[in-house]
Order: sequence, then C-alpha cells, then structure tokens
Amino acid sequence: MLHFSINNFNWSNTYIIPSLSESPDVLALSHEHLTVGHHSIRRLFVPPLTIHTILSSVTFATITYFMKLVITSCNGSVGVRVVLLALKRGHTVTGADHTSLSPELSNLEKDQQDRFTFHQIDLKEYDRTLELLQNSGCEAVVHLAAIRNPLDYKVQTHNSNVVLSWNILRACAELGITRIAQASSVNVITGIFSVQQTHRYFPIDENHPTEPDEPYGLSKVICELQAATITRRYPTLRIASLRLHWSLPYGQYPSEGKEDAAARDLWGYLDQDSGAEAFLFALTCDTSRWPSKAEAFYIASPTIGPDKDSRELKAKFWPDVPVKEGFEISGRKGFFDCSKAERLLGWVHKDNIVPE
Ligand SMILES: NC(=O)c1ccc[n+]([C@@H]2O[C@H](COP(=O)([O-])OP(=O)(O)OC[C@H]3O[C@@H](n4cnc5c(N)ncnc54)[C@H](O)[C@@H]3O)[C@@H](O)[C@H]2O)c1
Repeated sequence: MLHFSINNFNWSNTYIIPSLSESPDVLALSHEHLTVGHHSIRRLFVPPLTIHTILSSVTFATITYFMKLVITSCNGSVGVRVVLLALKRGHTVTGADHTSLSPELSNLEKDQQDRFTFHQIDLKEYDRTLELLQNSGCEAVVHLAAIRNPLDYKVQTHNSNVVLSWNILRACAELGITRIAQASSVNVITGIFSVQQTHRYFPIDENHPTEPDEPYGLSKVICELQAATITRRYPTLRIASLRLHWSLPYGQYPSEGKEDAAARDLWGYLDQDSGAEAFLFALTCDTSRWPSKAEAFYIASPTIGPDKDSRELKAKFWPDVPVKEGFEISGRKGFFDCSKAERLLGWVHKDNIVPE
C-alpha cells in the first residue's frame, strides 16, 4: 500500500501527480483518507476542499510520498545519509548491509523502531535478497551496495558489483517493486581510475560516450545496461541510475591535494545530503516524461570544489577539449551538466541542506 501526505502546500515546490487527478479510480476522499484504486492515501493535512480542487482540476501539489523503502549499503558513507534523509522525509526504511549496523545509525533501531529496521545480509545471495525485499513489504529500493573503487583492477569489484545490481533489479521485477534508484558513478566515463582519459566535450552530459577502461566504471556501465534490459522484459519498472560525483559532507572538499588527481576527477563533488535527496526524488518523481523506463542522470555540484578559476584549470589540464555551444567553463562553473536531473527528477544540487 502506498502512503502519501499532502502538506505544506507551496506552489513553488511542486510535484506532478497526473495519475491522481485523471484517475477514474478515485474511490473515496475525506480529510483523512483517499483511496485511489488499490492505493490508500492517508494523512491529508490541508482542507478537503483544497485537496478536491487539486485532484479534480490541477495536477500540481506538494506531495510527500511516504513509502516503504529498502536501502542497500545503509552503513556506507552514502547510505547513512540516504537513510537519515528518508526518515526525516517520513519514509519507512529497511536498511541492508553486509556489515553490522553502523554506529551512526545504531540509535535508530531504538528511537525509530517503528520506521527503521536493519538486516545484515550478503546481497550477492539472490534468494536471501529476494526474501529480504519480500519480507520488507517495500514499494521502492535505493540500491547502493557496491565496492566503490577498482581495488586491484582484477575481478572483485566487477564481479561483486554486477551481481549485486542484477540481484536487486531481478528481485524487484519478481516482486513487482517498480521504483528503483541505483548508484552509478561519474566513472562511467574515463575518470580518476583510468589509464587514459578521453573527454569529447565539456560539460559532460548523458550523451557523452561511456568508455571506461577499468572494472569499477565498467560495473557501473553494466548496472545501467542491466536496468535497460530488465525494463524491456518488465515494462512496469522505472529505474534511475544516478551517476554520482564524489559525495562529501558540506565544506569538506580538500583545499590541499594532488593537483593531477583533482584534474582527473574534473574537480567535481556532490554534497552528500543533496545526493541523498536525488535518490528520494528519483523514487517519487513523475516518470511519464522520461524518454525510457531506465534512465541515467549525472548528479554533481554545478560548481567545482576548489576555490579556483575553472577556465584556467581547463586551459592548464584539458586545453584541447571543446566546450559545447551555449556553455561556458569559467568562474567556478563545473564540468558536468546536470540539467537532465533537474528536468526529469526535479533535482538541483544544494550545498548544506538545512536540517528539517
Ligand atoms: N562515495 C562516493 O563518493 C561515490 C561516488 C560515486 C558513486 N558512488 C556509489 O555509491 C554507492 C555507495 O558508495 P559509498 O561511498 O557509500 O560506499 P561505501 O564503501 O562507504 O559503502 C559500501 C557499503 O556496501 C556494503 N556492501 C558491499 N558489498 C555488499 C554485499 N555483498 N552485501 C551487502 N552489502 C554490501 C558494504 O558493507 C558497505 O557498507 C556505491 O555504489 C558507489 O559505487 C559513491
């Protein structure tokens, strides 16, 4: 059952819910409860008249979807932030990880026991993964579990990551869990782990070729291919693959560091909580305008991390890479174009999201 809340009505912060206003399946509407088909929508905090107006004539409203989520890799640096933000936003979370519960989340099992549960599990085991998702009763999955670098550049990263992503996607298909947001990476292009980098143009967008030469980036290209493949067979699935840049706490981009390494990473970063928000938006956004059922999105700050001039950095490190028409690499402007995420997920990067 899906749970939604319509609250803090605010026209500048809107989500699209065409399926509600146009649905012939609206069975009941009251201040407390709305039933649409087999979905029950509860906790409506605005007067019924307003809701009725929203539902009958307008397709925009501030809707918070209270969903039951499974978040894999909840102990990881990204996962902890996604769990905390998801709980703040009213969702119920089943966290899953190979390791025992992170100290950062340990109080949740006591303080939020009705909304947070944890399972220690090796998600490389398909049957256990299926069982976990089934028992959780979840409606959506944030899949983060992976090895986040190529390790020794042999088999472990590739072989783990591609099994983990396929297990999650396949189990979701099996169980009819239709909304999935999985972690991809900016390393789908040649990046910090590559022997040789090839950039066709700046800023990098989703049309840029993905040609990694190392197993981590390859595992992320493959998880995106798995997503596209499984949606052909299970067309109700909607899968967002978020190509994250370096996820950092606010203000933590290192002021000193290896200049060459930063250049290979195109000086990018991602505020960790803004990244967490991207995952939640990817599960709740209207997908009707997506070009396909499985879409990839760059998720990065629009500015570079260091306090430097990006035109000068480009001239020094990437003088021959052309800049796309209509764009400029100057000031502190970054090397990634995340406008697709803004257009289709409603996500824009925010530094230092104010705690709610
Ligand atoms: N951190 C970043 O800057 C960054 C950037 C781009 C992409 N990503 C991606 O985001 C995701 C999360 O990254 P992170 O930085 O939080 O990683 P992390 O290394 O901090 O955490 C990874 C977690 O995955 C868990 N895990 C690994 N194998 C598992 C298995 N078989 N079963 C269950 N759990 C398993 C580990 O126990 C660990 O807690 C990864 O997919 C990573 O590739 C991260």
